[in-house]
Amino acid sequence: MPEKKPGKLTMEKLVSLCQRRGFIFPSSDIYGGLSGCWDYGPVGIELKRNVKEAWWRSIVQERDDMVGMDTSILMNSKVWEASGHVTNFKDPLVECKECHLRWKADDLKENKCPSCGGALTEERMFNTMFKTFIGPVEEDAAVVYLRPETAQGMFVNFQNVVSTSRKRIPFGIAQQGRSFRNEITTGNFIFRSREFELMEFEYFVKPGTDAKWFDYWVEERLNWYLKLGIKKENLKPYEHPKEKLAHYARSCTDITYNYPHGWSELEGIANRTDFDLKQHAAASGKSMEYFDDENKEHYIPYIVEPSLGVDRAILAFLCDAYEEEPDKDEIRVVFHFHPDIAPIKVAVLPLSRKENLAAFAKDVYKTLRPCFTTQYDDTQSIGRRYRRQDELGTPYCVTIDFQSLEDNMATIRERDSMKQIRVPVAALKDTLLAKLSGEDLFILPEGGQIWKE
Ligand code: GAP
Repeated sequence: MPEKKPGKLTMEKLVSLCQRRGFIFPSSDIYGGLSGCWDYGPVGIELKRNVKEAWWRSIVQERDDMVGMDTSILMNSKVWEASGHVTNFKDPLVECKECHLRWKADDLKENKCPSCGGALTEERMFNTMFKTFIGPVEEDAAVVYLRPETAQGMFVNFQNVVSTSRKRIPFGIAQQGRSFRNEITTGNFIFRSREFELMEFEYFVKPGTDAKWFDYWVEERLNWYLKLGIKKENLKPYEHPKEKLAHYARSCTDITYNYPHGWSELEGIANRTDFDLKQHAAASGKSMEYFDDENKEHYIPYIVEPSLGVDRAILAFLCDAYEEEPDKDEIRVVFHFHPDIAPIKVAVLPLSRKENLAAFAKDVYKTLRPCFTTQYDDTQSIGRRYRRQDELGTPYCVTIDFQSLEDNMATIRERDSMKQIRVPVAALKDTLLAKLSGEDLFILPEGGQIWKE
């Protein structure tokens, strides 16, 4: 039999593993899917919640200069006129004269159809905002848009937040939420979709201090990924040339990630200046000025905006954590997720389904479940169950064997090293808590033993 060798991650492998293990499915799968839309499964939703939670904790909860919001997806259409989206949120579209496939002109390397080689039409601009109607009549006056970014909800609430939160500049407003873009081409799994989630914040600063805050946030955001285990060599900042900037930006730096399809934008950090607040002030007739009571001056703040697609972050975490390792004659596939984002933290695995052992293991499961996302798995051999948990990225497995019935101890197996310790059941919860917070496996609780080095 040829020797099995660990291979490199490809998008095909990732899509198939994500589907097989319940991370992500194509939307409307039984009807052949819907292009650019994806469903998160039972494991994927845990991963997504953890990524969003880690961002919220670091951006909102752990800072004094930030507040959160949750604004509506549908907004008054005047918002999108004032923001420039109705006029400028457009992509150049070309169509193949032979097969009639449509392409985003910016993405093409040659002036022919990438699918059949056919000639292409002239470029025409295509607004990528989804339109719908409020009320029963489909008329121009009833047009509303599905938001393409969550930012505008925060800009138009600037004065509401200033007057209710007691925050003084510099401070930020953060938001997570669904956004929609009628992308001409989608692809690379969840990298570019038509419906996705954004996590972004608007950091309001005094004009003149914007460049300093811009650099600060590029650094902070890079560090967030590193803290959550992304490898440094897979992250690279990319500064946009001035002529390629979005209509609202003075400068923009992307944090790019080395995805299987190549280096691409993970997060964008933009200096939006006072563009948005000035536009909304002019269009609404409402003041967007801030009064600096220390210096007794009025000004319209500048805004630094780090904006990240949740799904692009998830794709980066999946790619970075994936590894194929030789394991005896087989290949072990494992997601080395940081414990904070691992979808399942602990799996309880009874060695057999015998009644007395199952009852003991279920008791252990019940004591752990309120503290961690825990899975109980009593199917197939223990080896296969470890493999399954490795593919889910579960940091710790707790194995209950017949000896546990006599000595009231359980084995903890660490995902990354596959090393094991044995600890009293009474100490399990605290021991797992410590390990999930980064404590070395071989620091043992009282009565604990090293089981397998
Ligand atoms: N408010 C600023 C803004 O929306 P953007 O660069 O257009 O800026 C921000 O988008 C982030 O949203 C990107 O860096 C990317 O992570 C994510 N993103 C953009 N379009 C996306 C799409 N079609 N599918 C998934 N994520 C997307």
